[in-house]
Amino acid sequence: MLRGSKVGLRARHEDDIPVLRTELYDDVVNAARSEGRPWRPVTPGSKDSRLVVDDTAQSYVPFSVVELDGGTLIGTASLWDIDTHHRSAHIGLGLLPSSRGHGYGTDVVAVLCHYGFVVRGLQRLQIETLSDNDAMLRSAERNGFVREGVMRSAAWVLGEFMDEVLLGLLAEEWKSGSEG
Ligand SMILES: CC(C)(COP(=O)(O)OP(=O)(O)OC[C@H]1O[C@@H](n2cnc3c(N)ncnc32)[C@H](O)[C@@H]1OP(=O)(O)O)[C@@H](O)C(=O)NCCC(=O)NCCS
Repeated sequence: MLRGSKVGLRARHEDDIPVLRTELYDDVVNAARSEGRPWRPVTPGSKDSRLVVDDTAQSYVPFSVVELDGGTLIGTASLWDIDTHHRSAHIGLGLLPSSRGHGYGTDVVAVLCHYGFVVRGLQRLQIETLSDNDAMLRSAERNGFVREGVMRSAAWVLGEFMDEVLLGLLAEEWKSGSEG
């Protein structure tokens, strides 16, 4: 398990799946705002790649996020589109509604940076998020991510086009400190 100051990132467990399905992926607004594809219901027992991990998929590494204190499941996090030639990847995260706003997101980004830069030896990490997602923008910027641009009207979200902000962080800019 990777450890931050408040959260741990560990492998997906079977009993995480119904919690993530009902609390995260059944939520139309959350799914529409945080994923790049249209919401659709997830059938219990589904092999949806957001829930069931394919350990052979080299470019996508999903984690379950737990509270270090007690081990309660609080969300998901991932490195995706890992490119071993350009040594870059994207990061993604989603916390259960009851776990948002407590500083966990900032800590998850820190641990993903440790995984990307230290464990995987990557050079660049990237995040795309809706321009009104202040919590995600702050969580990224707290960890040193820099706003590199705005992709105008890049996301169709529940009846309207919204801008997305692109943020990047390079290995040499990143300061380790919150994880071990
Ligand atoms: C985005 C998300 C991961 C952030 O994690 P979090 O634990 O809620 O964020 P934190 O508690 O670490 O807060 C980070 C910063 O944002 C601020 N913040 C938190 N919630 C906020 C909100 N609703 N509105 C404005 N600012 C907010 C905090 O005050 C903090 O600012 P600070 O560093 O200046 O003190 C989480 O809210 C989430 O899972 N949201 C839904 C899914 C999502 O949007 N995923 C990202 C898709 S790209």
